[in-house]
Amino acid sequence: MFHFSPVVFCVAASFIRCASTMSGMMKAVTFEPGGPENLRIGSVAIPQLREKEVLLKVYATAINRADMLQRKGLYPPPTGESDILGLEAVGIVDRLGPGCVKSWKPGDKVMALLPGGGNAEYVASREELLMPLPSNMKFIEAAAIPEVWLTAFQLLFIVGKVKKGDTVLIHAGGSGVGTAAVQLCRQFGARALVVAGSQEKIDFAKSLGAEEGFNYKEAEFEPKVLAQTEGKGVDLILDCVGGSFFDQNINSIATEGTWVIYGLMGGYTVNSGDHLAKILRKRITIVGSTLRARSIQYKESLVEEFSQRALPHFSNGEFRPIIDTTLTLDSIQEAHQLMESNKTTGKIVLQVRDEAAKEEL
Ligand SMILES: NC(=O)c1ccc[n+]([C@@H]2O[C@H](COP(=O)([O-])OP(=O)(O)OC[C@H]3O[C@@H](n4cnc5c(N)ncnc54)[C@H](OP(=O)(O)O)[C@@H]3O)[C@@H](O)[C@H]2O)c1
Ligand SMILES: *[C@@H]1O[C@H](CO)[C@@H](O)[C@H](O)[C@H]1NC(C)=O
Repeated sequence: MFHFSPVVFCVAASFIRCASTMSGMMKAVTFEPGGPENLRIGSVAIPQLREKEVLLKVYATAINRADMLQRKGLYPPPTGESDILGLEAVGIVDRLGPGCVKSWKPGDKVMALLPGGGNAEYVASREELLMPLPSNMKFIEAAAIPEVWLTAFQLLFIVGKVKKGDTVLIHAGGSGVGTAAVQLCRQFGARALVVAGSQEKIDFAKSLGAEEGFNYKEAEFEPKVLAQTEGKGVDLILDCVGGSFFDQNINSIATEGTWVIYGLMGGYTVNSGDHLAKILRKRITIVGSTLRARSIQYKESLVEEFSQRALPHFSNGEFRPIIDTTLTLDSIQEAHQLMESNKTTGKIVLQVRDEAAKEEL
C-alpha cells in the first residue's frame, strides 16, 4: 500500500509557505486620519512574530465601530500593537512564534480577537486569544463572531452579572453587539428588550428572541420599558449610547439594577438634573467597560469561558453570526461608509481570500 511520506509532505508544505510569503509583503488596510476616503489598501511587511504569537493566514475579517474612531485619529491602538485596522480575523494557522505552548498547529482553522491588524492578508495573534472555528462554519460567517460576541458575552455575564429571569434593556438592538446580546439572553433565560432606530431592526431582534422593542426615533422608550416591566424597570442595561439616553436610562432601571456603559454614540456629557439622588435612592450600580485595552490575562479567561459556554451553540445552530453585508477587503471604503450610515443590522464582513480557491503559491 502506498503511504504519502510525512517527511516529503512537510518539506513540500514548508516550501509552499516559503514561496507564498517570500516577498515578505502583504496587502493591508492603511489610512491617514480622516474620512472613509482616506482608507487605502497598502503593501506592508508581514508581521514579525513576538513571544507567544501565531501567524494567521487571514481568509476573512470584519469592521467595528472602534475602527471609525481610529480612522478619525481619535482612538489609537494600545501601545506596541499594530496600527493596521481590524479587531478580529479568521483563517488558517500559518506558523507558530517563539514560546507558544497551546496546542495550535499549522493548518488549524481559527478565529482571533485582536488589538488591531486584522484587516490584512496576515496577522499575528496571541495564541491565548485564538478560538477554533465552529464546525461547518465558513470563514466569512465566523468573521462576524469574535469582537461583538465576546463583547456581548462579557457585558452580560462578567460585567453585568445577569441572572436567569432578569430583564435586560439592550440599546442599539440591531447592532453587531446588540444582535449577539439578544441571542445570548434568549439562550440563557433572560428577557431582552431592545431599543433601535427602525421597525425592521426591532422586528429582526424579536426574530432572534427579544421580547419587545422600542423605536427611539418615534417616541421615548422610558414609559414603554416601565409598562413592559410592570413599573419595576429593568435589572440590567447594556448602554452604548450614553449622553442622549441618560435621563431615560436612569428612570428605566430597577432598584438595585446594573447599568453597563460600553459606548458613547449619543455623546459624552449628561444634562444637569437630580441624577445622583436617583442613583443613591435606587442603589444603582453603574459600571464602564472596554475590551481592547484589557490585559492578555483578562482576555484569555474571557476567550476560554466563551469557548466553553457559547461556542458549542454555534455548531448546533442555536446561535448564529448576524451578517448585514459581505464585501472584499478592497471595498474597505464602502464598508466604513456603510457602517457610518447606521443602516446595518449585524456585521459588515470583509473577505480577504477565497475559501473555495486552491492554495495559491
Ligand atoms: N466597550 C467595549 O468593550 C465595546 C466593544 C465593542 C463595541 N463597543 C461599542 O458597541 C457599540 C455597537 O458597536 P457595533 O460594532 O455592534 O455597532 P454597529 O453594528 O455599527 O451598530 C451601531 C448602531 O447603533 C445605533 N446608533 C448609532 N448612533 C446612535 C445614537 N446616537 N443613539 C442610539 N442608537 C444609535 C445605529 O442603529 P439605529 O440607530 O438604527 O438603532 C447603529 O447602526 C458601539 O458604540 C461600539 O463602540 C464597545
Ligand atoms: C450614525 O451614528 C453616529 C453615532 O451616533 C452619528 O455620529 C452619525 O451622525 C450617524 N449617522 C447618520 C447618517 O445618521
